[in-house]
Amino acid sequence: MSAEINTSSPPSSAPPTYPINYTFKIFRGNDKTGEFVDYEVPIDEGMVVLDAILSIQENQDTELAVRWNCKSGRCGSCGMEVNGMPKLACMTRLSDFDPKIPITVTPMKTFPILKDLVSDVSWNYEVNKTIQPFSPDEDSDFIYQQEDIERSREFRKCIECFLCQDVCHVLREHDKKDSFGGPRFFVRSAALHFHPEDTADRSEWLKEGQGGIGHCNITRCCTDVCPEHISITDNAIIPQKEYVVDNYYSILGWIKKQFNK
Ligand code: SF4
Ligand code: SF4
Ligand code: FES
Repeated sequence: MSAEINTSSPPSSAPPTYPINYTFKIFRGNDKTGEFVDYEVPIDEGMVVLDAILSIQENQDTELAVRWNCKSGRCGSCGMEVNGMPKLACMTRLSDFDPKIPITVTPMKTFPILKDLVSDVSWNYEVNKTIQPFSPDEDSDFIYQQEDIERSREFRKCIECFLCQDVCHVLREHDKKDSFGGPRFFVRSAALHFHPEDTADRSEWLKEGQGGIGHCNITRCCTDVCPEHISITDNAIIPQKEYVVDNYYSILGWIKKQFNK
């Protein structure tokens, strides 16, 4: 799959007169075969990429496949690539693009293509099952303070759009799906790990299991694309790398592991 990739550029300072015709180069096909098809769409003020795709579906090509639900950046269903960048189609404003340059829209590259703009993201749900669930101490009488929940709250903002998984080169370029969980699941394990009542030790999952956090070389691409602005690298990945080092390589961690055998 290849197409001319254009960098978006801001519109000129003169107020535009709507509607404006934009050209979209949209991938049509599946994992085995496909092509780019051009569509011209009249765009009104405030429209987003998903509006343009739904207009094509309604007026030009009823068989164009796209997954979406909320149209408000909450459900995480409409992840795709716009000019080669992972984006939520419902949150990507067309006023940020130059109407004179065609906009390329493709499915997320990291996952198998089911049809047109719809990727098969089911591998992610399988990864989720490998993470040890929340394990509170049943006898705990922990009293919550606000500061106790602040840290894990950030991670619970995740809408499972999988844009971070799509952009991560360990999955995208190296296809390490057998030994790497990806940034979304470092966020998930961080949400559990930083919960003040959780007692589970997920260092083995992180180091030797499906987590495979050692593959991550902290490029921060995942953080850059997250629509929820979760500091994936600094707040989820780096502290869990440190946790693995403490548990495996410090003397205290080694002794703890011997007792837990
Ligand atoms: S920081 Fe790590 S997990 Fe995030 S994109 Fe880079 S390699 Fe992937
Ligand atoms: S961490 Fe951010 S980019 Fe990744 S799945 Fe969650 S919301 Fe999407
Ligand atoms: S349609 Fe729900 S996030 Fe875009």
